[in-house]
Amino acid sequence: MTMQASQRLAALAVARVLAGATLPAALAATGADAPGPARALVHELAYGTLRHWGTLAFLVRALADKRIPDARLRALVAVALYQLGHAHQPPFAVVDQAVHAAASVARPAARGLVNAMLRRYLRERDALHAKARADPVARWSHPRWWIDRVLADWPDQGATILEAGNTRPPQSLRCNARATSRDALLARFAAAGVAARAEGAAGLVVEPPRPVTELPGYDEGAFSVQDLGAQLAAPLLRAGDGMRVLDACAAPGGKLTHVLELASVEALALDSDATRLDRVRENLARLRLASPAVRVAQGDAARPRDWWDGAPFDRVLADVPCTASGIVRRHPDGKWIRREADVAAFAARQRAILEALWPVVKPGGELLYVTCSVFRAENDAVVDAFAASRADALREPITFAEGAAHSGGQLLPSREAGGHNQDGFFFARLRKP
Ligand SMILES: C[S@@+](CC[C@H](N)C(=O)[O-])C[C@H]1O[C@@H](n2cnc3c(N)ncnc32)[C@H](O)[C@@H]1O
Repeated sequence: MTMQASQRLAALAVARVLAGATLPAALAATGADAPGPARALVHELAYGTLRHWGTLAFLVRALADKRIPDARLRALVAVALYQLGHAHQPPFAVVDQAVHAAASVARPAARGLVNAMLRRYLRERDALHAKARADPVARWSHPRWWIDRVLADWPDQGATILEAGNTRPPQSLRCNARATSRDALLARFAAAGVAARAEGAAGLVVEPPRPVTELPGYDEGAFSVQDLGAQLAAPLLRAGDGMRVLDACAAPGGKLTHVLELASVEALALDSDATRLDRVRENLARLRLASPAVRVAQGDAARPRDWWDGAPFDRVLADVPCTASGIVRRHPDGKWIRREADVAAFAARQRAILEALWPVVKPGGELLYVTCSVFRAENDAVVDAFAASRADALREPITFAEGAAHSGGQLLPSREAGGHNQDGFFFARLRKP
């Protein structure tokens, strides 16, 4: 695939996201789905453009004499600007290819406009970026309401959180301790010429990233793809051999399979989404963790009467649906698709799930509440209000490894080294006396 074809497909995907589609759905709709280097470039351009969309949209507006009505053409110019700023490709080739792509994205006459805008950018780059830094959305590349919320919730760490959200995430894996040791897996990777290092308790970071199915051991279930922050959930659940465990929002099974790697438990994996539950079954099978002790069922976590047999659980994992504001570096479409009203709607669902799950926790048992959000309204606010309303829900402190960027139970999005280049997750442990 030529560069102009990749630019075109990335622009079409970006325009679809800005109209409300998720990026995976938008990319699938472009047809750029066959694995290979061509797809990798389309994905890189689409992900990168959305990561920096606040800045790029500002530049597109500043470079056009009048508003460009065609959303796909605006997206194409943004894709080329992303390449000029971040992709280390020769500027003349980026401009030349984007000019040709303009004819198929919009109309032949659009070539002149794209050529003029990109050449003007190359001439006035420094002045344009200085202007962009004075505009909050252009500076932070997040929606204004999101920026205001993060800075209000995190007066000291807000800028770092927003910056971390615009970085390229590492390719983090979790070694399946039931299948192999991390040292053996690292040795296998090294023998295959895959550069990787150990991070955290069970993690590996592959650098440079590789298509995951090409990594040795994938088909045999030697590892899972999982962020280093997400890898903290299963140890924090503290499930021991013989315990009865509920994962109330289990799909696609990243944390559930980790729990099963760490302890021999009887587990119920619940999720309301039947399609996503197929991913749980696939992951259990690939990781060789499927067994009669693990039951997968569709159900609403907020309606235990539909799925609970009355036998209480020693451990409940409530990895509730949320805005995903802590994982925008992996899902940059999320920040442009979400609306501010979603935060309160999620908080209400989260509280309802917490209320409904509490009766299924055994006396002496624990519930671990998890979100991948950095908004306090979905985290401390939900858990504290719930705990304050019940005498039998005791919130216990969470401890993280030394050096982890966190504040209370909030693991902060971070690009720190030493096992802490992680997404943003929130953890709260509630114990029933
Ligand atoms: C954050 S994801 C879970 C990720 C999963 N724990 C993992 O580690 O792979 C949240 C999940 O909650 C599910 N969900 C949303 N509302 C639910 C409900 N009312 N009851 C059960 N599951 C729900 C979604 O389908 C989604 O799969």
